[in-house]
Amino acid sequence: MKPSVLVTRRIYPEAIEYLRERCDVDYVESDEGLPADQLLPRLRGKQAILAQLTNKFTPEVIDSLDGLKIIANVAVGFDNIDVPAATRKGILVSNTPDVLTDTTADFAFALLLAAARRVVEGHQFLHAGMWRKWAIDLLVGRDVHHRTLGILGMGRIGQAVARRARGFSMRIIYYDPVEAPEAIARELALERVSKEQVLRDADFVSLHVPLSDSTRKLISEPELRMMKKTAVLVNSSRGQVVDEASVARALQEGWIAAAGLDVFENEPNVNPGLLNLANAVLAPHIASASVDTRREMSMLAARNAVAALEGRRPPTLLNPQLWDSLASSKGA
Ligand code: DGY
Repeated sequence: MKPSVLVTRRIYPEAIEYLRERCDVDYVESDEGLPADQLLPRLRGKQAILAQLTNKFTPEVIDSLDGLKIIANVAVGFDNIDVPAATRKGILVSNTPDVLTDTTADFAFALLLAAARRVVEGHQFLHAGMWRKWAIDLLVGRDVHHRTLGILGMGRIGQAVARRARGFSMRIIYYDPVEAPEAIARELALERVSKEQVLRDADFVSLHVPLSDSTRKLISEPELRMMKKTAVLVNSSRGQVVDEASVARALQEGWIAAAGLDVFENEPNVNPGLLNLANAVLAPHIASASVDTRREMSMLAARNAVAALEGRRPPTLLNPQLWDSLASSKGA
């Protein structure tokens, strides 16, 4: 009998085809996804799930699972899954790192450039038929080149953003509790400073931390007030990393100059205070949304699930210690 897998929301067809060749697939082929109250009933008898950020695996949900071998998240972020609880329950958890690093970094940089150089305002101005003449100070923005970029979170995506910033001759300062590998710090001329110094010195502050209890509301009113009035904030990590109401006030009242935001506290809702602000460039959580990357994310999640079902180590496991202990107890 083939193993059974639940896919909770539409993904790329190549991944479904790959799964169907190897498993019985219960596919919720919609962009609405599986309603939360149907998750547990629909998981009955399944050995794997391809989950998305909207599927919440709290310790309570995880405790009620029976027979599930792997939760394969179709995202690099996994704040929707309590990994320690899954590990205790003997369930493997995987995410989709690496395949989206450069794509996400490209978009973070696009937001930074768009907010600094007023690209969206220019687009709207032109489309509204307001462009009558050239003027010396028409839509003047802020230079990016040779300015200071402050990165909070120097993991894979933070490093990829820093790499782009090097091409713009930027000085790069960062804060991360974990120091960047020496070779990368040297290659990118990274300076590790305190979080406060990042906020005070940077012309651009870009957020690349995972969401956790220690990063929730990392940027609230006190942090925004520490930033330069000319600074630009970029967030392509998770909405809950910033206090959205404070960011809206900061942009309205000029505590900072502009922001580029791809993620929001309560998606798909956006704090009304951010809407219609000329200095807020807003996007609907699309930093990793290139055709190739979203296809690769779908495929990697499918490969993770199939590997677990076939007794192979999933390529991008979040709880490898569980795999090791399962492997050693099999060998015992
Ligand atoms: C991720 O992978 O965590 C993104 O936020 C969703 O594309």
